[in-house]
Amino acid sequence: MSKMRSINPQDLEIKDLHQFMVGAIAPRPIAFVSTIDENGVANIAPYSFFNAFSSNPPMMVFSSNRTVRGNTTKDTLHNIQANQEVVINVVTYDMVQQMTLASISYPAHIDEFAKAGFTPLAAETVAPFRIAESPVQFECKVEQIVSLGEHGGAGNLMFCKVQRFHIDEAVIDERNRIDPHKLDLVGRLGRAYYVRASGDALFSIYQNPSDLALGFDQLPERIRQSDTLKGSEIACMAGLMALPTEQEIEQLVQKDDSLANLLELAPAGSTARFQMQERYARTLIQQGEYANALACLMIE
Ligand SMILES: Cc1cc2nc3c(=O)[nH]c(=O)nc-3n(C[C@H](O)[C@H](O)[C@H](O)COP(=O)(O)O)c2cc1C
Repeated sequence: MSKMRSINPQDLEIKDLHQFMVGAIAPRPIAFVSTIDENGVANIAPYSFFNAFSSNPPMMVFSSNRTVRGNTTKDTLHNIQANQEVVINVVTYDMVQQMTLASISYPAHIDEFAKAGFTPLAAETVAPFRIAESPVQFECKVEQIVSLGEHGGAGNLMFCKVQRFHIDEAVIDERNRIDPHKLDLVGRLGRAYYVRASGDALFSIYQNPSDLALGFDQLPERIRQSDTLKGSEIACMAGLMALPTEQEIEQLVQKDDSLANLLELAPAGSTARFQMQERYARTLIQQGEYANALACLMIE
């Protein structure tokens, strides 16, 4: 590993500390928060200090922070303090450009739906509007506001309990699950960076947490110590439930001619031969054939 910089947060200016944090804790989901003030003026603002924390009860938290520069608080906080109601809307790729308009600090009496060109839609259980363009909208009551400090940069955690939510049927697949490609969310990173969560950016890992897989420590020493294989490749084999039997190893050599031919090229037990096995195992891993990859590496 390259040289690590060791940092005491107290030695940094808040703006630099903030950028290190948001650069590293990324990508973050974005809550597009809709609130309403005492006079009925609608407010929308994006918040990426946000996540879901519990499904029973269904609870989400976002943080409306004091500004670093002026130590001011935000309209979203004021509105929630007044009536404890929000709608949290998700942000898709198609919405993100308009969303940035809603992050501008317009004065409190300005309706940000109009500024950002979004359509207000009545909610069923709370007064703030849903954002019609958003495919998932959570109507919430704010159960608790936790202030984390009085200085610029301090967060105010909003504990939002979901009362009702709405999902566009178009993003739900035949198994009653959200299809991320159809939802096409965006996430926030540091500085001006965003990420699009669909298409090539997505990949799947199937690991059942209740299956007690082998783990690294149960793999043969020379696999764990490999200079060629990466941790991520070894992990695919460590996620298997059992080591291959001698019979399975034998069968692999019998049915895979190109592997058998490779093994002929260097004497058993030689470093050169194990290196060939490593390279061959890598291609098997790339094809998702983890058990065969492990069997390949265990050929003596
Ligand atoms: C993508 C994005 C994420 C943001 N996340 C946060 C956040 O988590 N907390 C925060 O206080 N401000 C965040 N901001 C800034 C607020 O959106 C901005 O201060 C906004 O003007 C607040 O609006 P309000 O005064 O109407 O509440 C974010 C801005 C953007 C563009």
